[in-house]
Amino acid sequence: MKQEHKQGYIDVVGGSQFGDEGKGKVVDQMGEQASIGARTNGADNAGHTVDVNGKTYIMHLVPSSIINDHMISIIGNGVLINPKQLLKEIYQLRDAGLKIDAHKLMISDKAFVTFPHHKYIDVIKDSIRRHPIGTTGSGVGPAYAGQMYRTGLRVQDLFNVETLREALLDDKEEFDQYAKAFVPKLKQRVKDGKYSGSKLEDIKLFLSERIIEYYDEETGLKVDKIVEDYYKMGQELKPHVIDTRTFVLENLNLGKNVIVELAQGAGLDKDQGTYPYVTASNCGTVSVETGLGIPRKFIRNYVAVVKLVPSRVGEGPFVGEYGEYSDIRGKTRKELGLNRKDNSLILEKINNGTATPFEIGQYFRNVGVNDDKTNGGEYGATTARPRRIGMLDLTLVKEHNEKFGFTHLAFTKLDVYDGIKTIHVLVDDEHNGKKIISLPGFNNTYGKTSFKDIETNAQNFIHFISEYTGLPVNTIATGPRREQVITDYVSR
Ligand code: GDP
Ligand code: IMO
Ligand code: MG
Repeated sequence: MKQEHKQGYIDVVGGSQFGDEGKGKVVDQMGEQASIGARTNGADNAGHTVDVNGKTYIMHLVPSSIINDHMISIIGNGVLINPKQLLKEIYQLRDAGLKIDAHKLMISDKAFVTFPHHKYIDVIKDSIRRHPIGTTGSGVGPAYAGQMYRTGLRVQDLFNVETLREALLDDKEEFDQYAKAFVPKLKQRVKDGKYSGSKLEDIKLFLSERIIEYYDEETGLKVDKIVEDYYKMGQELKPHVIDTRTFVLENLNLGKNVIVELAQGAGLDKDQGTYPYVTASNCGTVSVETGLGIPRKFIRNYVAVVKLVPSRVGEGPFVGEYGEYSDIRGKTRKELGLNRKDNSLILEKINNGTATPFEIGQYFRNVGVNDDKTNGGEYGATTARPRRIGMLDLTLVKEHNEKFGFTHLAFTKLDVYDGIKTIHVLVDDEHNGKKIISLPGFNNTYGKTSFKDIETNAQNFIHFISEYTGLPVNTIATGPRREQVITDYVSR
């Protein structure tokens, strides 16, 4: 008798706003249902936080599934590999006690590599343009451009010294001219104090010898050194490098399930986001096809993560933003300051209607930071920049659902509203544009694990969003830690 064969499926987890929605936490939470976790887009511009057993892991390139013992983690061909960062991350995860070997972490042989000059071009270009984007400086734009130019190198090319050298010599000719023209311009701007963009510190680092490890003002790009170092790193990564497309497809055909962990968010999508203030990859399910090589018929769910108090890092439109970006741009956590006492004072002001927009932003940026380091704390996981904070914009979630086709929503940071009397949310205006509506606030959601245990106002808040967007709710996070999550939501 012919045996019934059950095929596996892919559940995709992605950002519904401008990144940093808490995708890492949601992926970790959904891990039990899958055997494989895969990244398919972006690079080390991403920073995904997972908080498990008292340890906080921040992953940039390694999928969050690495923390789940039973899962195999895949870095698909659509992800740009910065070998230095990847190795650093592997060492850090091993130091934290995780077992990472060739059976646990696999890297696509066809993933493109970011080289030092990609990072240099990224930083220089974004610093000297009239309207900077505020990129993470990871070199993603220039590295993906290398793929478009057909000059980029892939992970498999790291294993061949001659291929490496020839391609880098080609790049050098162009890069040296570029650097000659623009590095002095950048230096002059910094010297004149004319540059006040978000990355001044990055640029200062870049101009210091420490960062220009692979560039010399006299001789240009140090091709020999890059070849030597990158070949060596390639050898170290080699045991992990396979044809990931075939591996994933075979496993799906064996009935194994996959979780795809997208990077960034819908608003940063290179085609459908707020261009030019976007990243250089697609941040929706299309990257399962392009960045993993698996056809869409395998996709079951697309869980869009909604951070209930949204944030944005870098430049670009942010409707409902609390305060002006210019008040926080380029500042560190320390410079912005705030302690627990300030935060409870601000909460009082928020509740009696006297808090300034800047203060509201500060409150949400810092809520919980002093009593629980990882609770709240909206500072970039990749660049440590203060994140811009805004009002929950449901019109944006709706628009992104229209463009990207979510099947479920996952909420994070419900707990940061604890103690807020009135919650303001942006919805469609009947006449035109958006309007602010007020919803009653609530208390005591922090750490709750059952929907019935949160106050009626909190339940109604969740119902409202689900009904407004027409999407079912998959999970509701009530704190940064793995166990702080509600999974038994039932719609009314
Ligand atoms: P990602 O890039 O989408 O994975 O998100 P990030 O890790 O960059 O940022 C999300 C931040 O929110 C991290 O600091 C998480 O620890 C934190 N976080 C996630 N879910 C919750 C939650 O429900 N409550 C609180 N307080 N923090 C959360
Ligand atoms: P995760 O996966 C938030 C933003 C940058 C900048 C713009 C372009 O952690 O959600 P890039 O370096 O990609 O060329 O920068 O995109 N950006 C992110 N913002 N979360 C991210 O990733 C981001 N990755 C890129 O701040 O505005
Ligand atoms: Mg992040």
